[in-house]
Amino acid sequence: MTQDELKTLVGQAALQYVKPGSIVGVGTGSTVDKFIDALAASGIKVAGAVSSSVRSTERMKALGIPVLEASEVEELGVYIDGADEIDHAGHMIKGGGAALTREKIVADLAERFICIADESKLVDTLGKFPLPVEVIPMAAAQIARAFAAQRGVATLRAGVVTDNGCQILDVTGLQIRDPMAFEREVNQWPGVVTVGVFARNRAQICLLGTKEGVKTLKFL
Ligand code: A5P
Repeated sequence: MTQDELKTLVGQAALQYVKPGSIVGVGTGSTVDKFIDALAASGIKVAGAVSSSVRSTERMKALGIPVLEASEVEELGVYIDGADEIDHAGHMIKGGGAALTREKIVADLAERFICIADESKLVDTLGKFPLPVEVIPMAAAQIARAFAAQRGVATLRAGVVTDNGCQILDVTGLQIRDPMAFEREVNQWPGVVTVGVFARNRAQICLLGTKEGVKTLKFL
């Protein structure tokens, strides 16, 4: 099976977590695109979706799925999103699509984070994928120096302005052995809007697309 087919498989598998009449949190990325397509084709009528990006909003609206503002919703049953990396405890690196801030906001509204990913995303230690960090532009150089002190090499993502008008640094050379402590620490640096480690908002379930089919990993 190709990576694209594995993404289709997990996008469809995520439908089992969508209750008719509920409001669902929807992430961003090529795997989530498959979920959105599957939801539209399924005939499951949701009351609405809270979207984590302009990209997902446009796709859902085009397919007739009502989109609500995060501010209109107090809580969500599930948030369904992909990941750039996920470890064996459900901690993730996210933000490859530059939507990490809104993803963390919507994930935080949800009772459960359901991660959908192909098997290439499962890792022992987070950090091989360059860590995305959304930053206020005037602090970018300062934050890059702070990562250098931890042997991280931060590169500004060229030509990218986030949905929030900020910039993205991609940081290589990190081995994130304690994701919760790392997230807490980087969150305190002035000018950091969002760090792409999702530890506090880790996944409770991962639907992993493998050549043998969908594996359900539970991190409860
Ligand atoms: C978007 O900002 C990211 O967090 C995505 O969830 C992540 O990059 C996964 O994307 P794919 O499903 O396209 O691999």
